[in-house]
Amino acid sequence: MTIPNEATFPVASPGSSVRPPASGVPRLLPRTPDGKPGRVPQDLAAHQGTHGSLPYRGGAGRLIGELQAAGLTGRGGAAFPAHRKLQAVFDAARVTGRQPVVVANGAESEPASDKDATLLWLAPHLVLDGLQLAAEAVGAGRAVLYARAASQGRRQGPLDSLNEALARRRDARLDRVPVRVVQAPPRFLAGQETALISHLDGGPAIPAFIPPRPAERGLGNAPTLISNVETLAHMALVARHGPDWFRAIGTRPEPGSMLCTVRRGDGAPRIIEVAIGAPLSVLLARSSSPVLIGGYHGTWVPASLATPLTLDNASLARAGARVGSGIVITLPPDRCGLIETAQVVRYLALESAGQCGPCLNGLPRIAAAMAQIASGRPRRGVRADVERWAGLVTGRGACHHPDGTARLVRSALTVFADEADLHERGRCSASRHAAPFLPVPQATARIEADWR
Ligand SMILES: Cc1cc2nc3c(=O)[nH]c(=O)nc-3n(C[C@H](O)[C@H](O)[C@H](O)COP(=O)(O)O)c2cc1C
Ligand code: SF4
Repeated sequence: MTIPNEATFPVASPGSSVRPPASGVPRLLPRTPDGKPGRVPQDLAAHQGTHGSLPYRGGAGRLIGELQAAGLTGRGGAAFPAHRKLQAVFDAARVTGRQPVVVANGAESEPASDKDATLLWLAPHLVLDGLQLAAEAVGAGRAVLYARAASQGRRQGPLDSLNEALARRRDARLDRVPVRVVQAPPRFLAGQETALISHLDGGPAIPAFIPPRPAERGLGNAPTLISNVETLAHMALVARHGPDWFRAIGTRPEPGSMLCTVRRGDGAPRIIEVAIGAPLSVLLARSSSPVLIGGYHGTWVPASLATPLTLDNASLARAGARVGSGIVITLPPDRCGLIETAQVVRYLALESAGQCGPCLNGLPRIAAAMAQIASGRPRRGVRADVERWAGLVTGRGACHHPDGTARLVRSALTVFADEADLHERGRCSASRHAAPFLPVPQATARIEADWR
């Protein structure tokens, strides 16, 4: 079993011949020449020294079979097989005669996540290589990199590192299709694929009703491939080292490694690259506090249930959880899970695009009821109401926002049931009620212009 951060990543000096790296982790995140985690963006020379040159395949469609053999799944949350998305875009282009577009999704609109920004900041060339290879594979004529600005409190962000990387690639005439960089609005829904298309087409970043799916008719009505930036970085590695190398770690149905955002206490999160199927315990704090797996559309799991699990969907399903985009958060023992969840649910309700029934009527009610449960002395029957409303909103929206919110709420009511009993008696077991532990952006969209 390969566990995070323990394998060394071979760093070849620029110009030397590149051997396939050992089958360990990290694979995506750069290391310094003495094997320590990289802290500054990897420049083009160091990137090519580590990974070798960009292995174009010389024609559309050719990489798709290799991605299928590798078993690469999307790292944006849904774990959909990457080769099927590429094939769908490739096929739609043939049927419609329209040249496709590829979009790298680095919106990372989930406030608890920092893995895409970290990857873009440290390894921009790996993502840009993946974008070019994906463009070649589907026969695209242009590409877009959609990324968020710097995180709160940081002076520089992924866009700075990306723009610098693109300038160097232009000098070296590396890229075959032009790449446009677009800043994603800081909204929870901005990374959802139809919201992304709407924003790139000049509209608000809110989800659209499907069909048509973006693979058939997306940006400017062209067949559009939308892949998470981490998925694209993995594609760049599969293209270089092959499906067998990719499958050397991970599980049979879920091969490879993934980036996780790990929060174990107040302060900055750690971004750790982990072999899928590694023991979840390596990412958890040594505490008996519940764990939030999969982020704000994810699931609270009691520590006793989480500790024996492994980081893959087959294992996490036993606790009703999914890997999602790799967020693993241990609640600090001095915090109240109900208060934390209520603050997140309020944020999620305010962030909805307000265009479907579940978001217009259901989420605000659920958020208000959760606030009551969190604040103490809730009215009788409020927990049963929340359970009922969570059932009513599920599967009824144009996107999965209500479903994800309902999942989070239901798991909180189950895992923090004893705490909710305490609250009914006017007490709370937490000793810290200051600023929220789970990051919740202050500003929330209230007018359409906010989504632009
Ligand atoms: C509410 C919501 C927000 C999303 N935000 C993101 C995001 O910030 N980044 C991302 O890559 N995918 C996000 N997704 C998933 C995208 O819709 C899309 O499935 C993904 O970018 C596809 O990439 P992948 O196949 O490489 O995972 C979001 C989905 C939903 C429902
Ligand atoms: S379900 Fe909610 S967030 Fe999704 S499109 Fe409808 S209103 Fe918007």
